[in-house]
Amino acid sequence: MPQATYHFPKGFLWGCATAAHQVEGNNTNNNWHRWEQEGHTAHKSGLACDWWGGRWREDFDRAAETGQNTHRLSIEWSRIQPEPDRWDEDALDKYRQMLRGLRERGMTPMVSLHHFTDPLWLYDNCGWEKEEAVTYFEKFVRKSVEALKEYCSLWCTINEPNIYALMGYVTGEFPACNHGVNKAMQVMANMLKGHTAAYQTIHEIQPEARVGFAWQYRPQTPRHSWSPLDQVMTKIRYAGLNIAFPTAIATGVMKSPVGNFRIPQARGTMDYLGLNYYSVDTVWFDLGNPKELFTRAGFADGADMSGTGFLANIPEGIFNMLKWAVRSFPKMPIIITENGVEDSTDKMRPRYLAQHLHQVWRAVNFNWPIKGYYHWSLIDNFEWERGWNQRFGLWALDITNQKRSKRLSADLYAEICKENGLSSEMVEKYCPEVFETLFPG
Ligand code: FCB
Repeated sequence: MPQATYHFPKGFLWGCATAAHQVEGNNTNNNWHRWEQEGHTAHKSGLACDWWGGRWREDFDRAAETGQNTHRLSIEWSRIQPEPDRWDEDALDKYRQMLRGLRERGMTPMVSLHHFTDPLWLYDNCGWEKEEAVTYFEKFVRKSVEALKEYCSLWCTINEPNIYALMGYVTGEFPACNHGVNKAMQVMANMLKGHTAAYQTIHEIQPEARVGFAWQYRPQTPRHSWSPLDQVMTKIRYAGLNIAFPTAIATGVMKSPVGNFRIPQARGTMDYLGLNYYSVDTVWFDLGNPKELFTRAGFADGADMSGTGFLANIPEGIFNMLKWAVRSFPKMPIIITENGVEDSTDKMRPRYLAQHLHQVWRAVNFNWPIKGYYHWSLIDNFEWERGWNQRFGLWALDITNQKRSKRLSADLYAEICKENGLSSEMVEKYCPEVFETLFPG
């Protein structure tokens, strides 16, 4: 049996990602809280992982003790700016403590400034549909970065503008004021302006900052490769969902299936490219789905499916994403800002993790500038419209009593982080079913 280790470059960032609304609990002043009260979600977020009540401490301990050297979290706009003309200094203080807590544990913080939630006062004014949101966001960013810059210099302006726009404005699973593909693109364009303003503001305050955004790149493939219609539909989805926004960072023009948006100030506003990867979509033509421009996405027949069928385990997709990234943005540092799988039984997670990291390692070996990997997620958390049905944590959470229990994957990830690599022994121990694929010979 071959013995080998796939090593990662020295200084590689290993951590997990979380988002405020998903872990903090008692987060009641934003559009998601209202969305939950209106009954649009499988469950309510409630106390979540009780980070606002202080349990971030024990979870950061878990992360640090298992060899993680970084953590990505988000700060909640509606807590910091409960009304347009009021700041909550106590909330900022709490975030300062959290970031200091990471530093004290030897972990580099990455802070996301927007992760899906909007303050109610912004939402009630139709949020990112209006360009006013850009100015508001810029003010919030200025205030927050001034307050937190002592502890953080790695910033993620906005998480997944594409998923925010798609799920809110097209499919209707996330809260949104109005609907339609045109609105979705308008929102994405305003978020691009918001990102740009944030990028400039952060650099003004903290010249050494590294600023980017987190983009969910989802490879799209036609269900029938011989079908011209499926091919066209795949191209439409790919253009709108995957490349409109990032391409605008290179060109200053966001080209979308429903028109172009000229945003010249967006050019060059990125110090690293943050990429979230989960799965690959299979796309076909569906006359019954006009709201998604007659496209429909699902998964390939016979795919290795996750617990609730939310995603298919397709590790080559992360390699293809990285290939796209280096071709589109040569030399730009890349950070994998999210990757993981929902799996309450932890049967798939070990192989999902090992297989995806193997593909990342392949990419690293072409000298592609990949700087870090954030697993989604440290602990089971509130998964948006899917509530508590999906369990993404390395630690399981019992929401009735806040008890955490370690899954086997946490041990695997700990070994990976500590070794700065993935070894044949680890694969043999945690996911022998993929040993032959990862270590042939
Ligand atoms: C991503 C989100 C993140 C989490 C994962 C599973 O789209 O950024 O908050 O819900 O999916």
